[in-house]
Amino acid sequence: MVLEGQVEGPAGIIGMQTKNGGEGAAVELRDIEVSFGEGALRFVAVSNVDLAVRAGEFVAIVGPTGCGKSTLLNVIGGLLKPSAGVAVVEGSPVAGISKSCGYLFQADALMPWKTALANVAVALEIAGETKARAEARAREFLARVGLSRFADRYPHQLSGGQKKRVALAQMLIRNPRILLMDEPFGPLDAQTRVLMGDLLLSLWQQDRKAVLFVTHDLDEAIALSDRVVVMSAGPQSRIIAEHRIDLPRPRQTAEIRLDTSFHALQKAIWNDLRAEVMRAYGDEFAAIAGAGA
Ligand SMILES: Nc1ncnc2c1ncn2[C@@H]1O[C@H](COP(=O)(O)OP(=O)(O)OP(=O)(O)O)[C@@H](O)[C@H]1O
Ligand SMILES: [Mg+2]
Repeated sequence: MVLEGQVEGPAGIIGMQTKNGGEGAAVELRDIEVSFGEGALRFVAVSNVDLAVRAGEFVAIVGPTGCGKSTLLNVIGGLLKPSAGVAVVEGSPVAGISKSCGYLFQADALMPWKTALANVAVALEIAGETKARAEARAREFLARVGLSRFADRYPHQLSGGQKKRVALAQMLIRNPRILLMDEPFGPLDAQTRVLMGDLLLSLWQQDRKAVLFVTHDLDEAIALSDRVVVMSAGPQSRIIAEHRIDLPRPRQTAEIRLDTSFHALQKAIWNDLRAEVMRAYGDEFAAIAGAGA
């Protein structure tokens, strides 16, 4: 468990974080509230959320379904305006879509009519790069994700894991300093998820971007991150716990799961999460559990 006000970065440097953020943070959420609808229909999804992510820090966010994880990423990425509080990215309040942030969603965002190469290159073309230069860079990034041989394939000719790797290259080619990843490996099978986690860590290890990684998979959260943040069930969801992950790096995600301290972390985080997950399911789950008793 991280002590209140204390943060440790990936390099093991301990710094102090005020309730409202930290010096030199890549991302700061200050007392964020997000509501949807008006009047009697107003629904407060998240409230009183304070979070600071340091440059180069890998933070996983876990919490029950519907608690507001995607909502928070959308606020940071500038896709959603909070109803109260301030989101700050690299020292500036977020106003519109942030160029510092790269987004990776759970759903495929590849253009089906473009090849893998063109899908990656387009991220630079949009930013004004010539087609030739964008394609040359796209080849480099496809190589980084191990897809050189698949450059000319269309998305429907790629496996789920390969498509994810194209999407990863598409996000990284713009060299964002902050990665917002919303259950990016959710639809993949267990083995491919492990491989994708290792690929992500090896790429991250090279230039240590700040990462906010939303997942439902506790093992994945622990294996990848420096810190796991736990959210309560909604409405008015907030951060209820933070756990520092002191496991050694570089990590192989399959091996790190065998570490004895991994199990202790799993237990501690699940202890915080369990009641919230039950609360999110409410009577639905109690009825099922009761029927089986
Ligand atoms: N545009 C919207 N209009 C109304 N309510 C919304 C809207 N977007 C999200 N919500 C609500 O806000 C809450 C938080 O949604 P959000 O998508 O952030 O949850 P989540 O934690 O990402 O869930 P999941 O784990 O299922 O992806 C939910 O109750 C959802 O129904
Ligand atoms: Mg979500």
